[in-house]
Amino acid sequence: MSSFIVLGAQWGDEGKGKMTDYLAENADVVVRFQGGNNAGHTVEVGDKQYKLHLIPSGILYGDKLNVIGNGVVVDPKAMFEEIEYLEGLGVKVTAENFIVSDRAHLVMPYHRALDAAKEKARGKNDIGTTGKGIGPCYTDKAERSGIRVCDLMHKEVFKARLRENVDYKNEILCKIYGLEALDFDVIYKEYLGYAEKMRAFVTDTSVRVFDAIKAGKNVLFEGAQGNLLDIDYGTYPFVTSSNTIAGGVCIGAGIGPNMINSVVGIAKAYTTRVGKGPFPTELLDEMGEHIRTVGHEFGVTTGRARRCGWLDLVILKSAARVSGITSFALTKIDTLAGINKIKICIGYDLNGKTIDYVPASLEDLALCKPIYEEFQGWDDSVEKARSYDELPKNAKIYIKRIEELTGTKISIVGVGPRRDQTIVVSEI
Ligand code: GDP
Ligand code: IMO
Ligand code: MG
Repeated sequence: MSSFIVLGAQWGDEGKGKMTDYLAENADVVVRFQGGNNAGHTVEVGDKQYKLHLIPSGILYGDKLNVIGNGVVVDPKAMFEEIEYLEGLGVKVTAENFIVSDRAHLVMPYHRALDAAKEKARGKNDIGTTGKGIGPCYTDKAERSGIRVCDLMHKEVFKARLRENVDYKNEILCKIYGLEALDFDVIYKEYLGYAEKMRAFVTDTSVRVFDAIKAGKNVLFEGAQGNLLDIDYGTYPFVTSSNTIAGGVCIGAGIGPNMINSVVGIAKAYTTRVGKGPFPTELLDEMGEHIRTVGHEFGVTTGRARRCGWLDLVILKSAARVSGITSFALTKIDTLAGINKIKICIGYDLNGKTIDYVPASLEDLALCKPIYEEFQGWDDSVEKARSYDELPKNAKIYIKRIEELTGTKISIVGVGPRRDQTIVVSEI
């Protein structure tokens, strides 16, 4: 297998960081293709924990090439802070193991300011964004006023584009939101500093990734967020502003679809979501609280409590369809240990009709009543299991039923946060 995608099949935080780290052992190149530092990917190796936001999880190995593709939005301040954080933990980030696309768009201070201002203005209809300026940055990209990494490499081009943007954004910040204007000189100086620090990493990453695949190297594409946060197929407008689905790889890394061999959908054994929006299987009772506590369901990027609910196979089936998922990695089955009766949603009842897809209209989704199947639980011996055979009988029944109902095999099972708490069931 030469190139494969690891992506979230739910609303993010499925354990992509851990699975990327696990699967990256056999990869030469790890590529982020969308999103920005709104992502929060946790990797545990031995007794060390790493929290990554923008830099691909392959960085922890030292010998992999880590790529920020053109589809990513790069906040240089956040990027250098993350590099510093990693170096503080003994992880080296050099031009040999880390490159950034010259086509990637830059997150600017006015994007962060607009993100906060828009959220505040939405009042009770806020999206619950991470506040990292992601939406406003992708807005500028689509509107064709964005500033790209290659622009930052040319002082005069950058200056002109920044001037245009700061003038315009200040009008919006002051006149619409009643905020203070941002200072052009301060931003210009700050970003010129980043330009020099960034120069060594900047290149045409599409060429590097293409050449790597052609040379027979193994390339892993690391998704951020998840299927239901996709701008087209997610629960719009409660989504992020990029294409998180497999199609996003071609656009955000600059390679053709025929270069991708497999797609691993990461799915938690239950469902979580941060931020606002409908969530059919949400548990607003003690069970939800129990899962949140045992699963440590608190956001890596914002620290917010994650909303928790039963596993929803309508969501997984939809993810498998739109991303062509070839197998699932089922994570955190250890979190469900000790629960007597576990439920799986196998379909929605929408006005008396059973459906097995996620409706586009949020009003319809809000009316969807989950149809559940109930399972006997298992005990905590699951976290010590290191092979499929060692899993408790009821956990295996749960896994088999998910495979049956989604029509997609489960190739990996996660029984704990550490690299070694991973069971490979079959090839991905
Ligand atoms: P990501 O955004 O998809 O990378 O996921 P996050 O890192 O935001 O959240 C997943 C959390 O679950 C992290 O704290 C991981 O260390 C942890 N995790 C991943 N896989 C497992 C697993 O199989 N069992 C347990 N208990 N924790 C896991
Ligand atoms: P990882 O990669 C979970 C959510 C936010 C909000 C919505 C829009 O760790 O799985 P944004 O700041 O992107 O405009 O926020 O998307 N969100 C995530 N939820 N995991 C993530 O990333 C997320 N990135 C964004 O909470 O609801
Ligand atoms: Mg996360």
